[in-house]
Amino acid sequence: MNIFQRKEVMQGLDSFVTNQIEVFYKPVETYWQPSDILPDASDLDGFVQRVRELQAKAKELPYDLLAVLIGDTITEEALPTYESHLFSLEGMNDNADENPWRQWSRMWTAEENRHGDLLNRYLYLSGRVNMKAMEQSVQHLISDGFDIQTANDPYRTFVYTSFQEVATQISHRRVGTLSKQAGDDTLARICALIAADEARHARMYQGFVEKIFTEDPSEMMIAFADMMKKKIIMPAHFLREVEGLKGSVYEHFSDAAQRIGVYTAQDYIDILTQISRKWNLETVTSLTSEAEKARDFILKLPVRLARVAERLQTPSLEYQFSWIR
Ligand SMILES: [Fe+2]
Ligand SMILES: [Fe+2]
Repeated sequence: MNIFQRKEVMQGLDSFVTNQIEVFYKPVETYWQPSDILPDASDLDGFVQRVRELQAKAKELPYDLLAVLIGDTITEEALPTYESHLFSLEGMNDNADENPWRQWSRMWTAEENRHGDLLNRYLYLSGRVNMKAMEQSVQHLISDGFDIQTANDPYRTFVYTSFQEVATQISHRRVGTLSKQAGDDTLARICALIAADEARHARMYQGFVEKIFTEDPSEMMIAFADMMKKKIIMPAHFLREVEGLKGSVYEHFSDAAQRIGVYTAQDYIDILTQISRKWNLETVTSLTSEAEKARDFILKLPVRLARVAERLQTPSLEYQFSWIR
């Protein structure tokens, strides 16, 4: 990877990013905020009544669903890790406040920040969570950071985030659907609102990659293939409980998500296929021979992954998380 070239391409996209900020972000007063959805504590009588109703609905949520929701919340709460990663990327790391990439990242973070706030507050009010255990996992996860294997390359990172925003959108949407089936329409609404944000984020990141494909096609293709070779790992892969080792409960969280169909190996394949189509991989021209090989690898990957996915068994062990009372 040629760092100088990366910086140049990123700087060349300044006006594109400025335009994307206008397309995708709205004035703050038009956004939903957690307080629009959750009980207002300044009206004590009404508050107590509404919390009772919220708790009655939350009581029916199945164990795995609650576990996945808590894992998702912890992932959202580790936002400082994601923002600091974005700020370390080539083209974003020059500290200038007027750098539109940095402006864009701050606005993305500001939107994301509502997700953890809303989910965290909902879980607190639900009465079903050992809040201290969850908070300890949040503190661990932020301290542990992540290793998404992109280094400070914006191309690799945008592949990662293009993929990951779709994954979170799917996950929140399905948790919402399952919550509704379990009778919790408050949680269903919360998840739908967050999923809509994630869908928009996916479009933003995918738009960046699409644009870079027109500016620097070979390097973009090689970066995409490289990320798929390494596999897109979840941002919470270091998830642990207070006394566990780094990453020790991640598998249990991921198993629970597979078991209830919130996020599965098939989803991984579908996202890959979807983003490859979105970027019209087959029609990209002016590729070097290395980039041609990278494209071949990506295009053949869904079939290979499908063969692996067929053999996978959904784990049946329901792990007892310290987060749930
Ligand atoms: Fe989010
Ligand atoms: Fe997002």
